Amino acid sequence: MCGIVAYIGQKEAYPILIDGLKRLEYRGYDSAGIALLNSELAVYKTKGKVADLEEHVKEARLSGTIGIAHTRWATHGEPNQVNAHPHYSQSKEIALIHNGIIENYASLKKELQNRGYEFQSSTDTEVLTNLIEDIRKNEECTLFEAVRIALNQVTGAYAIVVLSKNDPDALIAARKGSPLVIGIGKDDYFVASDATPIIGYTKNVVYLDDEEIALIRRNKDLKIKTIRNQEKTPYIQKLEMNLNALEKGGFEHFMLKEIYEQPNSIRDSMRGRIQVEQGLVTLGGIVDFEQKLLNANRILIVACGTSWHAGLVGEYLFEDLARLPVEVEYASEFRYRNPVIYERDVVIAISQSGETADTLAAIELAKSKGATILGICNVVGSSIARATHAGSYTHAGPEIGVASTKAFTAQVTVLTLMALRLAQMRGTIGRSRFMELLIEMNMIPEKVEQTLKVSRKVIEIAEKFKDVRNFLYLGRGYLFPVALEGALKLKEISYIHAEGYPAAEMKHGPIALIDANMPVVFVATNKGIYDKVISNIQEVKARKGQIIAIVTEGDVEVKRLADYVIEIPETEEIFAPLLATIPLQKLAYHIAVMRGCNVDQPRNLAKSVTVE
Ligand code: AGP
Repeated sequence: MCGIVAYIGQKEAYPILIDGLKRLEYRGYDSAGIALLNSELAVYKTKGKVADLEEHVKEARLSGTIGIAHTRWATHGEPNQVNAHPHYSQSKEIALIHNGIIENYASLKKELQNRGYEFQSSTDTEVLTNLIEDIRKNEECTLFEAVRIALNQVTGAYAIVVLSKNDPDALIAARKGSPLVIGIGKDDYFVASDATPIIGYTKNVVYLDDEEIALIRRNKDLKIKTIRNQEKTPYIQKLEMNLNALEKGGFEHFMLKEIYEQPNSIRDSMRGRIQVEQGLVTLGGIVDFEQKLLNANRILIVACGTSWHAGLVGEYLFEDLARLPVEVEYASEFRYRNPVIYERDVVIAISQSGETADTLAAIELAKSKGATILGICNVVGSSIARATHAGSYTHAGPEIGVASTKAFTAQVTVLTLMALRLAQMRGTIGRSRFMELLIEMNMIPEKVEQTLKVSRKVIEIAEKFKDVRNFLYLGRGYLFPVALEGALKLKEISYIHAEGYPAAEMKHGPIALIDANMPVVFVATNKGIYDKVISNIQEVKARKGQIIAIVTEGDVEVKRLADYVIEIPETEEIFAPLLATIPLQKLAYHIAVMRGCNVDQPRNLAKSVTVE
């Protein structure tokens, strides 16, 4: 996620801003920049880390008691110096930093270009900066008013801080869908994406609410309005958390924070890509390759680990909805087994980090045979993103915990959108059914929120089974990949051996493992083959296996048979992986914590496996 820091007061701004950016480094970023206002408005920015920015400015004259600073997590446009923030307006009188996604930036950019504006970068942020300048000039209004009017014209999420050469005693800050906090010092103000850069200076803070805009003027009281121009009284709070807790948003670990970010990360994966009323799914990043998808005789999915599990959900989605054959390949196997690859093949490479060596090699092999390569990555401008012909970013924000959680559900969200779009193009799904699924998909983030509330039962189960030596995870259909993912989560952070299996496969051998000491997790939310799942559960129960079942709210049959039950909201079968995975992530997390494991950096693991 991008990081924002700003300062206005009596002290030199530069040291405060740079230290603030360092406090936000934990959020993950790929470029950094700063703007300082003294007699001149000077912007300094560079690709890379805050240390690279310090190197970049070491010869510069960095005076000024007002400034803004930013670490960028690229969403639109490559991570490079031109796309880094702050962005100047065309006249260089205004500088702006932004966290979020302006969905309608393309249409706004076209209008501004028609009015003679030229753009240096490919970012949505620069469009907003010039929109503010354009309004300020045409309406002959204050910067505050220009920002307020501009924000009524944008759709999407933003946290911004703006300053102008023509008004060296004011910062303008505003937010919608992306957090922003204002620190109130003795005779100065601080603004940041979260309280970590502020807590060292003051504990008095105001958290802006959505669609609020603040006028932060030197030696004056803070003024807050809504972007609809209603006055708001600033609500000053006292910061209670310490710095370490603040970095994790108050959660004990990044992994737990990221588990709870999933309603928003799934929303961000859908943002701008689903129009329910119009019955539209639009994946801008692959729109030029839809014909390739239409002409494909099969889809090959290459990935590793959790991303491979997302790919397996993708297989069920594409075949079930779009009736297109899919093969899911471990990239590490695919690259060496001399696979048959056709020019008409479409390969989908899935990777959170975008740097996994095996996946990258699989892409190069498929590309060398003439196949079309689409990517589903979380890191903009990553090696895999750049190696593909096109793709759709998951927009889940940086995933710091080594065990992947929000990236998995974001990958499944993008795969679901792709499969729905392909089904619509191939005519394999009727319009009314398509609309039904879109309406339900739009409700998934709220249903994830409800699912996250189930904690007491999860902790009770974790307490009961934290010392066992083996676990089995079973699922059928769309829930089989969820069983695999649940087993991997437990393995990699608690070091308990766990195996995922198709539920019906138990009787072909693994059922020999079942006894009273074997906890068996059944992901049993299926509809179509519910009675088959019941008989699988009975097979395990007959051998005294201890049954932990993930069921749909209101389930009766499974609840009668299982020893422990976790209920999740009802949803369409195709969306079940997005909900059923959540309790398994939490179960693995709580067991690992109870076992004293290092949840965020498990032993032997790396966040990105950039070697073979
Ligand atoms: C997931 O919890 C693991 N950390 C690991 O399996 C990971 O999914 C795998 O290494 C692939 O990484 P990628 O998505 O960045 O390519």
